[in-house]
Amino acid sequence: MALVKIKVWDGWVRAGHWLLAGLVGLSWWSAETGRMELHLTSGYLILSYLLFRLAWGFFGSDTARFSKFLRSPVAALGHLAHLFRREPDREVGHNAAGGWMVLALLAVLLVQAGSGLFADDDILAHGPLAGFVSGDTSYFLTTLHGWNFNLILLLAGLHVAAVLLYALAKRQDLVRPMVTGSKRLPDGTVAPRLAPLWRGVLLVGLSGAIVWWISTLG
Ligand code: HEM
Repeated sequence: MALVKIKVWDGWVRAGHWLLAGLVGLSWWSAETGRMELHLTSGYLILSYLLFRLAWGFFGSDTARFSKFLRSPVAALGHLAHLFRREPDREVGHNAAGGWMVLALLAVLLVQAGSGLFADDDILAHGPLAGFVSGDTSYFLTTLHGWNFNLILLLAGLHVAAVLLYALAKRQDLVRPMVTGSKRLPDGTVAPRLAPLWRGVLLVGLSGAIVWWISTLG
């Protein structure tokens, strides 16, 4: 089968992904070591990325769009049925099962960043919106902020395990495309449409501005 090089992931998705992975680690480390100013900054960056990624899911490049990668649960199960089969990579973007994992990861990260805005540890730090809700609500969201991190660890662990499984069982390297943006796919594969640069710049600017404004409220 003849293969051709196709650009599947735009720079926003790739840079955002690796930045996100680094920031999740930084958030954990800064909280563990009591560096709460750094923790808040890291949280604001994650929230900005998440707002951008949600918008990019509607207005971004084809492979970033929810409408393109969220397929039916039946399609996802169908994909999982041949998880261990060695076969060439034909996926232009996220596969039917991976799409749901992406949504789950974004959802738990959004819960984490959102609850952090209202969290208050009564000692070292409080989120900028903690003063806008009752003590009970803030306490609940602080607890959620702690517990939800375990869920992030679980899903991130499953996510990395799935990537490893693709490499070992299917002999498909998903990591290189997340770095370079390109995949070698069967000749005739339709290349995804990539969104223009200005749109990414605009949405990153807007997301950052919203989060900066929120950060000034507390
Ligand atoms: C060394 C660690 C990691 C590796 C090797 C890795 C690898 C990858 C790869 C290869 C993809 C694309 C999958 C596909 O082809 O469909 C991807 C997507 C994704 N990963 Fe990771 N990942 C790592 C860590 C993380 C962490 C820590 C998070 C968040 C907690 C994360 C969240 C995501 C998300 C949200 C996507 C979807 C990207 C998008 O559509 O914008 N990843 N990852």
